[in-house]
Amino acid sequence: MKVVKSIKEIKDILVSEREAGRTIGFVPTMGALHAGHISLVEQSVKDNDVTVVSIFVNPTQFNDKSDLLTYPRTLGQDCQLLEPVGCEYIFAPSEEEMYPQPDTRVFQLGRVAEVMEGAHRPGHFNGVAQVVSKLFDIVKPDNAYFGEKDFQQIAVIRAMVEQLHLPVHIIDCPILREPDGLAMSSRNIRLTPGQRQKASLIACTLKESTTFVPEKSIQEVIRFVIDTINHEPEMEVEYFQIVDGNTLEAITDWSDTAYPIGCITVFCGKVRLIDNIKYPSVK
Ligand code: PAJ
Repeated sequence: MKVVKSIKEIKDILVSEREAGRTIGFVPTMGALHAGHISLVEQSVKDNDVTVVSIFVNPTQFNDKSDLLTYPRTLGQDCQLLEPVGCEYIFAPSEEEMYPQPDTRVFQLGRVAEVMEGAHRPGHFNGVAQVVSKLFDIVKPDNAYFGEKDFQQIAVIRAMVEQLHLPVHIIDCPILREPDGLAMSSRNIRLTPGQRQKASLIACTLKESTTFVPEKSIQEVIRFVIDTINHEPEMEVEYFQIVDGNTLEAITDWSDTAYPIGCITVFCGKVRLIDNIKYPSVK
């Protein structure tokens, strides 16, 4: 496994790989890797001849400066996790390497980028599109792997790929969870032991809420989830919406879509956690 920091070097390496007829799988990350990230890498290793993982904490997608400053950076540890699973190349550029000049591109990503995270984190998805489009241009992968943990991010990336006519397949991978149900996240290590214990309430509540379909209405399920979580001290729901998994538009009746997804963001103390759940289809 090779760690590459320069754009020119990784491009040259991947030109040779492609010339040798090898397919390239790509997993973009911001590091502080955990088993969730590794599951994406394992899928890529299965599907492709060569797997590239990028590790870059992208400043343009952080609308909160302190979140950027406190984002964990653990390159040495990340390399140790990636070596045994068959990743060939880690691309870990500096900020200057990725952004020699400020990136002023504004993407038109449509409604999927405006709702939920888009509304609560202005500029976030534009920053994601900036960095992922640059990374795709550098790596030119056949397949790129994204986790359903960031459900809306996948929809935004698909919109970007369509808009730019990029020749890459976007593959979504299931959410990996801790034994108590908490979705794995690089931010979980910022929880105090007490908060960490409480955080499992998010996944438990979402799971319980799926048993209410179709007897309870959408509004009743939303109330149940928000009230149950907000009842716990230190936990506060920022938003919870039940949407059509394709358009990400809020639904008002279970029969509105065959693909209902509940998307939630919760502050646990100062740590912002996101999760989502698929509801049974009644359509
Ligand atoms: P990051 O948060 O590091 O996540 C990298 C990838 O790992 C994303 O596709 C994310 O959905 C996936 N992932 C995170 N936790 C997961 C879990 N518990 N189960 C399955 N997959 C999980 O998402 C980003 O970085 C950035 O926005 C990025 C796309 C790299 C652009 O900067």
